[in-house]
Amino acid sequence: MVFTPVQAVAFEYDSCGEPAVLERRTRPLSPPGPHEVLVEILTTGVNHMDALIRRGDEREWDADAWPRASGSDFAGIVRLCGPGVTAFRPGSAVIGHVRTGAHATHLIVSVSALVPKPKSVSWEVAGGMYLAGATALTTLEELRIGRDDTIVVSAAAGGVGSIEVQLAKHWGARVIGTCGERNFDYLRQLGIIPVRYGEGIVERIQHVSHGPVTAFIDNFGKDGQGIAEALAVPPGRYRSSADRRDVEAALLRDDPESVRRGTAQLQRLAQLAEQGAFRLLVSGLYPLEDIVEAYEDLDRMHSRGKILLATNPVSTFRVTRARDVHEAMP
Ligand SMILES: NC(=O)c1ccc[n+]([C@@H]2O[C@H](COP(=O)([O-])OP(=O)(O)OC[C@H]3O[C@@H](n4cnc5c(N)ncnc54)[C@H](OP(=O)(O)O)[C@@H]3O)[C@@H](O)[C@H]2O)c1
Repeated sequence: MVFTPVQAVAFEYDSCGEPAVLERRTRPLSPPGPHEVLVEILTTGVNHMDALIRRGDEREWDADAWPRASGSDFAGIVRLCGPGVTAFRPGSAVIGHVRTGAHATHLIVSVSALVPKPKSVSWEVAGGMYLAGATALTTLEELRIGRDDTIVVSAAAGGVGSIEVQLAKHWGARVIGTCGERNFDYLRQLGIIPVRYGEGIVERIQHVSHGPVTAFIDNFGKDGQGIAEALAVPPGRYRSSADRRDVEAALLRDDPESVRRGTAQLQRLAQLAEQGAFRLLVSGLYPLEDIVEAYEDLDRMHSRGKILLATNPVSTFRVTRARDVHEAMP
């Protein structure tokens, strides 16, 4: 078959910095090589880790060549298969991950980084599932969270926290989530006990825990160690924001073993989502072209669930924005 070069739109940057360094560029893609496929991306997630990398705050990315690409989560449709690909065919709906480069319309990717998208999982959810979901799953597995636990999760309404609290609840734990008051109803609907962060948080947690707190995940990264000590969380069952960073960095490495591990976690997440073990709330779905605005809204630190980019939104009128959700609240 004759390969017609695909013109991929991708967001790239030539120097580290704030979201405005991202530039829209069009590049022809070469055909997929052995065990690779060409994916048309429909949705792609926006993560704090992508922003830390773009700002130059992550040493592991220092040696990357320029220009640099952006984005690590995606869902889309396989359009073309390279030699040796048997697991997918043109038209297969997939969820995938990549070290960088997901903020694009098309991507050439190894099949080792893809899993089939379950029909019942929406495109919006699928495209934001990898980094937040695999971080949540890995952290809970390391802590061996189960029915004997009372766990506290900070930033429980955010991208990673909202998955952690739901999975911990699914595995039988009593779950307390810290958030602002506007998120109390959201967490209550998930069966999570909401506690307001800020001064007096230890007493408020003790008031609702009805016994010892056996594990604490600090996503937000403020006063976590002190709160864990005041709650007498057992050593080894506290996860700091820095621990979370390490989990995320490992999930983004592109050596074959790291990719295999990341894909195994993605497969488990897809199954858990299909079973209804968690529901990922999308509070912002932006056209890919509005990537700068999407990052600016993420940086406000008050998004509920995930923010995603879509390559083919039906119309910008129907696109939800985290900014509007946040500013509509009292
Ligand atoms: N250490 C690292 O390398 C690293 C890596 C990734 C992420 N992080 C941090 O982890 C946090 C959560 O990540 P995410 O991906 O879930 O982000 P996200 O989706 O942007 O989550 C934001 C959530 O943080 C909550 N929040 C705001 N101020 C808070 C406070 N003072 N205490 C507790 N929660 C607060 C917000 O709740 P309300 O709207 O209810 O206030 C919101 O639901 C972010 O702050 C991010 O910077 C750190």
